[in-house]
Amino acid sequence: MDKLARRFDGPPGQEDMPYLLTPGPLTTSRSVKAAMLADWGSRDVEFRRVVAEIRKGLLDLAGCDETYECVIMQGSGTFAIEAALGSFCPATGRKTLVVANGAYGDRAAAILAKIGRPHAKIDKGDSAAPTVAEVIAAIEADPEISHVWVIHCETTSGIVNPIADIARAVKQRGKTCMVDAMSSFGALPLDMKDGIDVMVSSSNKCIEGVPGFSYVLVKHDMLAASKGHSHSVVLDLFEQWKGLEANGQFRFTPPTHALVAFHQAMREHAEEGGVAARGRRYARNAQVLIKGMREMGFSTLLSDNEAGPIIQTFLTPRDPHFHFERFYEDLRLRGFAIYPGKLTRRPSFRIGTIGKVDEKVMAGVLAAIREVLAEMNVTDLSPLEA
Ligand SMILES: Cc1ncc(COP(=O)(O)O)c(C=O)c1O
Repeated sequence: MDKLARRFDGPPGQEDMPYLLTPGPLTTSRSVKAAMLADWGSRDVEFRRVVAEIRKGLLDLAGCDETYECVIMQGSGTFAIEAALGSFCPATGRKTLVVANGAYGDRAAAILAKIGRPHAKIDKGDSAAPTVAEVIAAIEADPEISHVWVIHCETTSGIVNPIADIARAVKQRGKTCMVDAMSSFGALPLDMKDGIDVMVSSSNKCIEGVPGFSYVLVKHDMLAASKGHSHSVVLDLFEQWKGLEANGQFRFTPPTHALVAFHQAMREHAEEGGVAARGRRYARNAQVLIKGMREMGFSTLLSDNEAGPIIQTFLTPRDPHFHFERFYEDLRLRGFAIYPGKLTRRPSFRIGTIGKVDEKVMAGVLAAIREVLAEMNVTDLSPLEA
């Protein structure tokens, strides 16, 4: 990689690579990276123990009792999403309601369309949370709706949806509640017993592991009843579960290094103080970042009570000297990779506040932003019109 200019000298772990201020892959600890410095046999008894401990640990973290199962799936988060949609959503007669307020809700609806599963959609745009009343109204308006898919933290904007209230309302109406908790699980409280039947997340988010696999927590009875329902051989959660249960092994080559790194990451998550402590660290990161950005003159897309601690969306300044590509690259050269994706309909950019980063890193990126803006001669940080 390029020689880093005037690089930020932050907490250890990133060697001479930039801190990843993104929603994942994200910055991991040195000990998580070090766990990968060995080659594990996927059928080895020690490796199978690691896999069993991960499955058990994830169930515990989500408040699951013995009525739930954990199925690990190779591949990024979207692989587990497609696996869950294909394994559990009805193929005929009944429908899945997708509660969308950003790119990840749209993607779930696109997957259902592609695999031919009937669905309806609530579309909230990309910067407003769905309300419980809206979900209830949609369910009551269409008796064919049997399943509801909703996102915990919509990483498009960083907004946190009222997941526990929605899950309880969905359950009270006898429907199946499925949650994409990809970018929130491990940092925001989530209790499956609130009425969540299915939850999906992945290795490279708030547990602070590396990319390579995703996982689905699901009611045992629902999983057992899904035999033969999947549209796919590879993404069939019932068959994946049967394989893991039979001998603790994966059906197809697992990402061994990512799994042992995640095992270490789970240990560090517990040592830090679990979900509450991790959520507090991320919340401090978010507060420091937002305060500093506002002091400079930036505006946020979301108000403080809507924005979660995962990722922050800032509106693109109207100053004609502001060019995002240069801004991004000059920050990267100073040791910070912010998130280049432009997902929201309003011109904006995002900075992630998760991963093995702290307030010192946030102070570092703020100082770097001030320098880069001065070099670019940007003075008017008021936002571009919508
Ligand atoms: C809420 C949410 N859902 C789904 C995904 C997709 O995950 P992946 O890119 O790992 O496939 C992401 C990724 O950031 C996400 O934040």
